[in-house]
Amino acid sequence: MNDIDKLPISDRALRLKPSQIREVAEAGMGMDDIIPLWFGETPWQTSHLAVDAAVDALKSGDHFYQPNSGKPQLRQQICHYQQQLYGQEFNQSRITVTASGMQGLALVAQAITTPNDRIVSILPSWPNVLEAFKISGAEVICQNLQVKDGKWALDLDQFISLLTPNTKAVVLNSPNNPTGWTMPEADMRILFDHCRKYGIWLLADDVYARLYRHGHCAPSFLQWATDEDRFISINSFSKAWSMTGWRLGWICAPSALENTFAMLSEFSIAGPAGFVQQAGIKMLQAGEGEVKLLNQRLKAGYQIASEMLQQIDGVEFIQPDGAFYCFFKVKAMTDSLQTAKNLLDIAKVGVAPGAAFGTAGEGYLRICYAQPTDILQPALERLAAGLNQAKV
Ligand SMILES: Cc1ncc(COP(=O)(O)O)c(C=O)c1O
Repeated sequence: MNDIDKLPISDRALRLKPSQIREVAEAGMGMDDIIPLWFGETPWQTSHLAVDAAVDALKSGDHFYQPNSGKPQLRQQICHYQQQLYGQEFNQSRITVTASGMQGLALVAQAITTPNDRIVSILPSWPNVLEAFKISGAEVICQNLQVKDGKWALDLDQFISLLTPNTKAVVLNSPNNPTGWTMPEADMRILFDHCRKYGIWLLADDVYARLYRHGHCAPSFLQWATDEDRFISINSFSKAWSMTGWRLGWICAPSALENTFAMLSEFSIAGPAGFVQQAGIKMLQAGEGEVKLLNQRLKAGYQIASEMLQQIDGVEFIQPDGAFYCFFKVKAMTDSLQTAKNLLDIAKVGVAPGAAFGTAGEGYLRICYAQPTDILQPALERLAAGLNQAKV
């Protein structure tokens, strides 16, 4: 086999690094009796409403290429959904249906970034968000979140001081994976006005918008952003509707970019399958029931996870506001990747290492608490019993 360094491939492909979350998960998947809490995913099946809609679509012949921007009915339904949540009218020309939130991030990065553009974001962060922009050649500058009074916080003045005149875009994931930090509405308004004033793009990763304080909708720039603003929201059916495997999401952008996104979609995978889009239409038509049910389940999971983590010796629990993770500090731990690997052997529990979320994440571990309580309870008992021995 050729050594990859000797093959003439692009610099951007050469510098890609594997995700440390995957590294732990792949080690653990081959082992017996592991309780996995490493991925951001629920174990509950997608609603039968979505499954039936997809099956019906397949049976009735929805087998062909789709419009580049997505089915008009789904775009319309997304406009309606956003209008209900954010009290503004959205024109369907602002919506592009994507094959996942991740594809949305990749298309936005391609649309906005020219090599060496300065993009400002935060850490800890799900690595893929920033990777999409780095692949497009951006220089990504990050400000670390800090823990204050038992919660994650962003020093907004310091963050805004990073927005130099040559800054192309701010990328903000709120509620945040992995910390659960959610930007307060007042800070959002200040940042929004600043970006508006200086013509800086504001790119919001809103995939956890519906997972906020177990039943609320997180504050969002979508309540203010008009078609004139340099603002783009990326969203997904993966989390709030338990549809990770379906690969369905959307972009909400200025309508001036409608054709740009249609072409970027066509020149990548030409949009999600028709029957998958039918499932998305059904879920949005069905209203709030599914999102409510998930939030009830998450509330129960969070209760157990937060109580048990707070009792583990050497763990500093930090209260999240959104998403479905606990990102906790392990005192005197300096190698979260090795600790996560040790936990597989010693405790039979799978967690994500904090270092996977950037240097600011070292010293932390992440669990996803979107699990039934009868899974979470033994998983956390195992963690409590094995952490001190596993920790390095
Ligand atoms: C912050 C964030 N953005 C985007 C995504 C992408 O979600 P998907 O590609 O499944 O729609 C994820 C998934 O974990 C995420 O955590």
